[in-house]
Amino acid sequence: MPSSNMFTGLAFLAAGTTLATDLTQHVDVFHGTQNGGNDFPGAARPFGMVKLGPDLLLPGTDAYAGYLSDGEFSGFSLMHEQGTGGAPKYGTLSQLPLTGHVDDPLSNITVPRAKADSGSVGYYQAHTSEGVEVELSASARAGIYRYTFPHGSDELKNVLVDVSHVLPSFRGQGLGQRYEGGNLSVFADGHYEGHGIYNNGWNEAPNWAIFFCGYFEFNATSNKTFVAVGADPSVEQADGFVTSNAETKRIGALFTFNTEEVLSRVGVSWISSEQACRNVNKEIPPGTTFAAVVDEAKAEWSDKVLSKIQTTSTNEKSLSLLYTSLYFMHLIPTNQTGENPGWHSAEPYYQDIFTFWDLFRCSTALMHVLQPAAYEEQIRSLVDIWRHDGYLPDARSSDYNGRTQGGSNADNILADAYVKGVRGAVNWEDAYQAMVKDAEVVPSNIPVDHMAPDSSTHEGRGALPDWLELGYITPKFSRAVSRAVEYAANDFGLSQVAAGLGKETDAAKYLNRSRNWRNHWNPKQSSLGFTGFVVPRNTTGFMETDPLGDSGYWGDPYYEANSWAYSWADVHDMKHLVKLMGGSETVVRRLDTMFTEGAKGSPGTIFDATNEPMFNIPYLYNYVGHPELSVCQSRQVAKHAYSTGPKGLPGNSDAGAMQTWLLWNMMGLYPVTGQTTFLIHSPWFESMTIALGGGKQLTIHATGGDGNGDENIYVQGVTVNGKAWTKSWLTWEDVFAEGGVVGVSAGGPADPVGNW
Ligand SMILES: *[C@@H]1O[C@H](CO)[C@@H](O)[C@H](O)[C@H]1NC(C)=O
Ligand SMILES: *[C@@H]1O[C@H](CO)[C@@H](O)[C@H](O)[C@H]1NC(C)=O
Ligand SMILES: *[C@@H]1O[C@H](CO)[C@@H](O)[C@H](O)[C@H]1NC(C)=O
Ligand SMILES: *[C@@H]1O[C@H](CO)[C@@H](O)[C@H](O)[C@H]1NC(C)=O
Ligand SMILES: *[C@@H]1O[C@H](CO)[C@@H](O)[C@H](O)[C@H]1NC(C)=O
Ligand SMILES: *[C@@H]1O[C@H](CO)[C@@H](O)[C@H](O)[C@H]1NC(C)=O
Ligand SMILES: *[C@@H]1O[C@H](CO)[C@@H](O)[C@H](O)[C@H]1NC(C)=O
Repeated sequence: MPSSNMFTGLAFLAAGTTLATDLTQHVDVFHGTQNGGNDFPGAARPFGMVKLGPDLLLPGTDAYAGYLSDGEFSGFSLMHEQGTGGAPKYGTLSQLPLTGHVDDPLSNITVPRAKADSGSVGYYQAHTSEGVEVELSASARAGIYRYTFPHGSDELKNVLVDVSHVLPSFRGQGLGQRYEGGNLSVFADGHYEGHGIYNNGWNEAPNWAIFFCGYFEFNATSNKTFVAVGADPSVEQADGFVTSNAETKRIGALFTFNTEEVLSRVGVSWISSEQACRNVNKEIPPGTTFAAVVDEAKAEWSDKVLSKIQTTSTNEKSLSLLYTSLYFMHLIPTNQTGENPGWHSAEPYYQDIFTFWDLFRCSTALMHVLQPAAYEEQIRSLVDIWRHDGYLPDARSSDYNGRTQGGSNADNILADAYVKGVRGAVNWEDAYQAMVKDAEVVPSNIPVDHMAPDSSTHEGRGALPDWLELGYITPKFSRAVSRAVEYAANDFGLSQVAAGLGKETDAAKYLNRSRNWRNHWNPKQSSLGFTGFVVPRNTTGFMETDPLGDSGYWGDPYYEANSWAYSWADVHDMKHLVKLMGGSETVVRRLDTMFTEGAKGSPGTIFDATNEPMFNIPYLYNYVGHPELSVCQSRQVAKHAYSTGPKGLPGNSDAGAMQTWLLWNMMGLYPVTGQTTFLIHSPWFESMTIALGGGKQLTIHATGGDGNGDENIYVQGVTVNGKAWTKSWLTWEDVFAEGGVVGVSAGGPADPVGNW
């Protein structure tokens, strides 16, 4: 490139960077941290291994991502999940600042909060009742702590490292994490290394180990190492090394300083403590200022995530929802490439999939749009997990598959990636073999899930014996109905990939199997005047159910949603479903009933925005010629179930699943996973531009509305790439593959004919 142009290029880049940097100010890291959202508010990088944040102890309340608005600090730890439910996982590798003489370092010490925590992208701040300010930031595989002890106080200034620290579970499901062992050494230069071993948690994982390497910027005036022996929680060990064994159940170290400010850099690794030291010294080298780490974190979030979507909107609430949602969908999965303790491979490695049951519906499709490079790595990682671990995961944390709530939903995700042209370095023959394993090979039921002992929840399809033999699932398997409708969708995914790979016999076979959800359809089952629902059945025939009240949990016929919800699950067979329900007009009334306040005979609606199984229901009107009703219902949900602030999510974020639902609503599109189809509804903003990678972009315009999706939301006309568009859907090829422009003219009230 000629040098004269280079200067122009740089000037342009500088202007762009300034714009992008500002986007972090729209992110509220406390959004969705209360009311069951379980968002992680601490410091992290996109897909980062380290998520450094506070751990609050409030007996009786589970802190899924460590944070609670109430309770006392038990530590500030380097590992967390994002927005999950079920039971807490991680909260491992912690430090806790303490003043004065510390009697029993390993006695589950907690310290009250002095005032509410605060934070922003890449930065977290808390104050303990002892007057200590705690500030946190993170790189991908290391964290940095800055402690400011009370000015002018002659109290001892300590930092406690408790290797045995985990997030406890009070829910009483037998899913509490346990510390099982480890060691810790303090070296002559004052830095510490070691590892901890933990197990259980939501996915009932066996022992897993994580390694750490911590440095302090200033030398301690003393360091002491402790073990817990029998009833005595804190027996000091003189030689700077502690290890857990049958007698010494817990280990930790206490570092004491005489400076008001203490800076600590800590690296983590799944491989070794030497690797943990390399990670921290590479990413946060000695002498790095705290502010430099924060600045780098903000810049990375701006460049890699937030700047992917630009809009003309100036509505601060909408901008906050937009950029905050983008932020929270990028905390997990974790990019652990090069840090795989399970096997050696040149393939990328991502884990902390929590869970595909939540994410397959609309989240992975958005990850593909926004992060095509990372997404290809994630798909390759899935295939590599099958290659070396035996099965694709439906969920995975601490490098262990599980738990599988319904189908083998990685199949849907692979199918979605395949039909939308993800190729690159993905080995699709292997990917397809991984899917076939899900569809054909019954997974071992060892270890047994005590909440669903009948069949595997570890991986694969536990209820496969019935599915293969009968084409439906009898009550000898838990979650029989919800698994069956998901297995059918999984088989549809196989048929799509098989067709693409030229495996015609397989394609026909799995397409056929994808219709077996129909075997659960009892045309006589009725509820609120509608007939036809998916119901439990055995070899004799259908069994009675209460469609409004049959939502259950691990041991029940339906998992976390009722038959009103699960009857819509198989959208790949929508034409037949509409027929079974009695035609388009009945479908519209049936959908309307789900959104009618009090229709179920108690306050609220049958539609439930708090969980993922009903994600697509507001959009299904598009299938029966009434896209304006999709606009109406989905916008109701987006504007009422979601809001800014700590209580702004309707339910568990679930790794960002909730946030991606909201982002699609802003975009005016909704993906149908496993197909190239996107349903068109109504965009919020006058203009939104989405960077698709490789310089391609999708621009979505809405004219005639209020620019914020509140008023005049109904679509009067659509153009796609400048041409008038009469369909209420478009495909990947239309606007995503090479970029494109969607133009919507909005207005109100709804077009009564339901066409545009
Ligand atoms: C610390 O908490 C754990 C549970 O998280 C409990 O099992 C243990 O007894 C507690 N130890 C002390 C010394 O209180
Ligand atoms: C601590 O445990 C690790 C992992 O088992 C081991 O490699 C290391 O040698 C132990 N450290 C010491 C000082 O024994
Ligand atoms: C800490 O102590 C070590 C070993 O005595 C010394 O080399 C180092 O310079 C000290 N560091 C600081 C920040 O004082
Ligand atoms: C800290 O521990 C190391 C190793 O156990 C020791 O060499 C060093 O002198 C200790 N420092 C202080 C200030 O006690
Ligand atoms: C994932 O991590 C690996 C190893 O650090 C790195 O090479 C790769 O670029 C990362 N992927 C993304 C999308 O950042
Ligand atoms: C489809 O399934 C039906 C009934 O289960 C069976 O009779 C038929 O042979 C199957 N067709 C294919 C192509 O597998
Ligand atoms: C199927 O369920 C019905 C109703 O519970 C029961 O009467 C029948 O015996 C069951 N059939 C088999 C084969 O278990």
